[in-house]
Amino acid sequence: MSKTISLLGLQWGDEGKGKVVDHLAKDLDAAIRYQGGHNAGHTLIVDGKKIVFHLLPSAICHEDIHCYIGRGVVVSLDALFEEIEEAQELIGNIEDRLTISLACSLIQPYHIKLDQLRESSNKSTKIGTTGRGIGTAYEDRVGRRSVRVIDLFNEDNLKSKLEEALDFYNSIFKHSFGSEEIDLNELFDKNLQQGEKLKPYVGNVIQEVRDLQDKGKKILFEGAQGALLDVSLGTYPYVTSSNSSVSGIASGVGISPTDISYSLGIAKAYATRVGEGPFPTELFDETGAYLAEKGGEVGATTGRPRRCGWLDTVLLSNVVRLNGIDGLCITKIDVLDGLDSIKICTDYKSNLNRDEMIETMLIEDVIPVYTELEGWEEPTEGIQNFDELNQKAKDFIQNIEEICNVPVIMISTGPKREDTIIREYPL
Ligand code: GDP
Ligand code: IMO
Ligand code: MG
Repeated sequence: MSKTISLLGLQWGDEGKGKVVDHLAKDLDAAIRYQGGHNAGHTLIVDGKKIVFHLLPSAICHEDIHCYIGRGVVVSLDALFEEIEEAQELIGNIEDRLTISLACSLIQPYHIKLDQLRESSNKSTKIGTTGRGIGTAYEDRVGRRSVRVIDLFNEDNLKSKLEEALDFYNSIFKHSFGSEEIDLNELFDKNLQQGEKLKPYVGNVIQEVRDLQDKGKKILFEGAQGALLDVSLGTYPYVTSSNSSVSGIASGVGISPTDISYSLGIAKAYATRVGEGPFPTELFDETGAYLAEKGGEVGATTGRPRRCGWLDTVLLSNVVRLNGIDGLCITKIDVLDGLDSIKICTDYKSNLNRDEMIETMLIEDVIPVYTELEGWEEPTEGIQNFDELNQKAKDFIQNIEEICNVPVIMISTGPKREDTIIREYPL
């Protein structure tokens, strides 16, 4: 029986992580976010109602679970309080079961402003960010000048950190963008007030997680974004600014890498991407439009349309290996229902050899090579038993297992919690 499980998206995000967390949550004691921020959008359908979590772990919906926001997450207090309020309307008070690390770096209004100014300017490389100040907040974290949660409780520290930050940011706003400056006193007061409001939630996540581990509790590390958006291992520079791979868990929570007993990888039966960046199997034809329409492929955070394409097992098999994936969950197989044929990318034609491609992730110019499988007419939607899947859908799953050399232990057949096939339970 696994005690600590990592749940990770293996593509460019939006693989259906929220739905899978919600399915597993009944058997968990704790869930922890370890990277990213409110750029994430994790959708759950609970009692027919759609709920989207951005910063809170999706498992917060289940009232016996304690949720944590680990030190690797960048926290916007505006976004956090808004989300807590929304969650409390649905699920009641969560004060006693949400803990935020004192070591989290805060996203300040200047981070959001600079992110948005950069993205709307022609001068810099446009990434197509969510405009939430994620990358700019991580720049300060790596630059060792973040305002962290603990700084909210030391007025002198807070003032001098904000003063230094605004010296820098206001000069950029004024000189590089001709934009308005941010007022120090207003920002300082707001931080102090938010610090007071945050007090019931702050805690020592490392110790609390150790206590859970010592008691043999079941803990889930909930990934945001996906392995191909990892700042180090993804399609750089078209990535997010955190380690969204399994490697981000140890530093983003404060555990040893050997503390993860099972790694569950989530991949869609096809592929999507929001924002800029290479996408070798992207479809610009009616099949792409069909996937977008049937899959409801619209960003859960920004409402942007998601680009759609075929499943890419060149990338998938690489991230399975990189992340030590023990089992896969293939989501949204129902979206493929009714297609005459289904393609899986199994190779690239490229000037780069495979090793160089994996090292650099420069996949702009590769030409995908496809294996074509027969589609199926029979609906897979809502099926809960593997035996009830039609043979062609089973063949599709078997192909993925063989190419990626990993078992497909779960298949998601619809957005609802119960629309799930379990072949091997990871908990
Ligand atoms: P996340 O960011 O990985 O949690 O994924 P998102 O919530 O951003 O996007 C996944 C979308 O697909 C959401 O609208 C889900 O409700 C929906 N979804 C999840 N699993 C399935 C599935 O198996 N079939 C269908 N049709 N929709 C699904
Ligand atoms: P979930 O957790 C899909 C993408 C953005 C952009 C790039 C950088 O719902 O899967 P950022 O704002 O992070 O600096 O933007 O990363 N991106 C996501 N794409 N799902 C997400 O989260 C994403 N979070 C960030 O679209 O291309
Ligand atoms: Mg999402």
